[in-house]
Amino acid sequence: MSVRMLGLSRAGVAATLLACSVAAAMAACGDDGPSGPEPPDPALVEQGREIFRFDTYGDETFWTDTLRMHEVIQAAVDPTTALSVGLKVDAEALPPDVVQGIQSGAISLTDPATTVALLKLNAVVGLQGTVETIEGRDTLVRVGTTCALCHSTVNNSFSPGIGVRLDGWPNSALNPGAIIALSPALTAEQKAVYDSWGPGRYDPRFNFDGINGPVVIPPAYGLLGVNSVIYTGDGPDLAYWNRYVGVTQMHGHGTFVDSRIGANVQNPPDMISAKLAALQAYQLSIPAPEPPAGSFDPAAAQRGREVFEGAGTCATCHTGDLLTDANERLHDPSEVVSEPEPNGVPSYASRSATKQYRTTPLRGLLLHPPYFHNGIAATLEAVVELYDTRKGLGLTSEQKADLVEYLKSL
Ligand code: HEC
Ligand code: HEC
Repeated sequence: MSVRMLGLSRAGVAATLLACSVAAAMAACGDDGPSGPEPPDPALVEQGREIFRFDTYGDETFWTDTLRMHEVIQAAVDPTTALSVGLKVDAEALPPDVVQGIQSGAISLTDPATTVALLKLNAVVGLQGTVETIEGRDTLVRVGTTCALCHSTVNNSFSPGIGVRLDGWPNSALNPGAIIALSPALTAEQKAVYDSWGPGRYDPRFNFDGINGPVVIPPAYGLLGVNSVIYTGDGPDLAYWNRYVGVTQMHGHGTFVDSRIGANVQNPPDMISAKLAALQAYQLSIPAPEPPAGSFDPAAAQRGREVFEGAGTCATCHTGDLLTDANERLHDPSEVVSEPEPNGVPSYASRSATKQYRTTPLRGLLLHPPYFHNGIAATLEAVVELYDTRKGLGLTSEQKADLVEYLKSL
């Protein structure tokens, strides 16, 4: 039982709200039920899940026509290589004979043709392939990416990297830079930058400002009620950022304009605007996962909560049920403990629209290290140590240990 359950966990709140709307008994539910943001419409959520998992917004024109990833995949990316750069396989998309073939070894995991077969089955999370028979052979002719590439993983129920989809969980094993660097269309200089990012990191501003400062791929769960999005709070809703990524990073078709960052990208025809409402609804429907059973000490976590709210001064910014003041204010880079950036690159905030940071809502923490926008803290112990040193908190080692247990419980 998590410490937050002593009150009511966030997942519990979301579930209660959902139950109320489904029962259409809002009067009864609304009276003494928890107050909070309206849960998204279930029909829209359903549509949004399909979009999140399978829609490329037509970005094949970039990943295929420009980057020629279909050629590389077909020539050199066998399933073992694909798994090694963090790509995941959706076990539920595999028919029984394929499952058996993988188990018996009859299907080779070191043959790129198997990757093409998996793409044909629509079983590679975050990639959409079009496979045609050319001269009697299955041939990958188009490939594109979806939101699930970076924001879904699998539960490894079949084997490492192969399992049931977990949407909203950041794919911390995914090495987007290494994948992009496989493209034959890039210069050696460009490849060196992409290769430097490492797993779980991506720079969604590099193609605008040429600065190499990748950030940690964050969770896309537990965001219901947070009306300020991304590390730097650039927009009021997820649709703002979803359009940004869909058009300017995935290179899907549509328009993204924001004069604050000098962005004006026009890539007709518009294949994204009509999908944004459903896409946002789906993300808002994903609750933060509860910490795994037995992953923290409840008594220590309870004491840690007191440190969080008292001597640690954490609750001055991590306020309310979502543990963030994001709906009220942002913070100057001088207030965060994660700066200066590693490797001397300019502040990530300075590259954003707001030039500030949003207090990150704290949820599912144990499940998504490393921490802070730049991943400067590898563990929750390192987070607490950094705050203690940089803010001169003078916490005792017991207080620090308790605070870590509390963070694990979120
Ligand atoms: C190549 C990897 C990649 C892909 C593909 C991608 N994202 Fe992200 N996403 C990121 C990174 C990196 C950030 C952090 C950016 C920041 O905060 O400045 C992010 C941030 C987010 C957030 C966090 C919002 C918050 O307020 O905490 C959400 C939600 C999200 N993306 C949804 C999406 C959706 C929906 C799509 C598809 C349209 C998508 N992403 C495609 C890498 C990716
Ligand atoms: C001045 C406001 C402020 C205070 C006080 C504060 N935080 Fe934060 N916290 C932030 C901001 C802003 C971020 C995002 C910074 C970044 O990503 O670089 C953050 C990020 C974090 C993260 C990273 C979450 C993630 O998913 O990456 C953790 C964990 C955290 N804070 C814990 C704490 C703890 C524990 C304390 C008390 C010791 C504390 N914070 C005090 C504002 C604050």
